Amino acid sequence: MRRWDLETGDEGILVTRMELLAGKEIGLVPGTGRMALALAAHFCKAGLCVLLGSRDVARAAMAAATLIQAHGPSLAVPLSNKDAAARAHIVVWSPRGLIEEREAMLRDLAPYLEGKIIVDVTNIGYAMDDKEWGQTSSTLRNQVALGVPARWTTAFKATFASVLENKNHEGRFESTVVCGDDVDAVETTIALVQIVPNFIGVRGGGLKNTRIVELLGPPWLIELDELNAINLHTSGWQYVL
Ligand SMILES: NC(=O)c1ccc[n+]([C@@H]2O[C@H](COP(=O)([O-])OP(=O)(O)OC[C@H]3O[C@@H](n4cnc5c(N)ncnc54)[C@H](OP(=O)(O)O)[C@@H]3O)[C@@H](O)[C@H]2O)c1
Repeated sequence: MRRWDLETGDEGILVTRMELLAGKEIGLVPGTGRMALALAAHFCKAGLCVLLGSRDVARAAMAAATLIQAHGPSLAVPLSNKDAAARAHIVVWSPRGLIEEREAMLRDLAPYLEGKIIVDVTNIGYAMDDKEWGQTSSTLRNQVALGVPARWTTAFKATFASVLENKNHEGRFESTVVCGDDVDAVETTIALVQIVPNFIGVRGGGLKNTRIVELLGPPWLIELDELNAINLHTSGWQYVL
């Protein structure tokens, strides 16, 4: 029996269900940070159009320059966060900043995000006292802050940006837990995850489970890395596999 419900080709290579992503533009909001840019590079390489948002369009243009050089201006488009959110079919939610600042951004973007698939890579780890860990999650708080219905999913919460940036995967499979309450949104998110070479999206159940999934993220992920991977930040969360 296969360990996960993987779709593999003749040689056992992971198959990305690109038909779920056909014609979809991916908004990275914002698209200037490490997580967003690492993901955007993989998406562009697979032929998807990425919309790189920022609070400052000039910063988005700088961030998009390398991608435009490699893939052309039709596949990498610098925009404001608002315009990226408005135009995108699928949004990767990847801001830094205090959780309260991120929630304020969501309230502003609500009219543009309503009904969309939003793949949340943010964590609550540093934002709360550890006595409160497990009681809520960044994603659950984001969902409330947005204030309008959207198809929230999660991915890469316990993945170092350096793992996404790494071009030498040495045949090692990485995985990330994908949670969501909307089945189609989860499957679309898994297709997006599996664009990243050697990455598997593991179905993690509903959004309520993000309370647990985010416990694998920082700061515990960093402690695990120090203890098990000599502090290289090149590991994922499955240290014992
Ligand atoms: N780095 C990792 O290894 C990693 C791993 C898993 C999850 N995450 C999570 O993924 C998210 C992004 O991480 P990252 O490392 O990619 O972040 P990053 O490179 O530090 O920055 C992401 C972007 O957030 C925007 N930003 C910064 N401060 C802000 C503020 N106060 N309010 C609104 N926007 C602000 C900036 O965009 P503009 O200035 O262009 O608007 C910045 O380029 C974080 O929530 C992090 O917890 C990170």
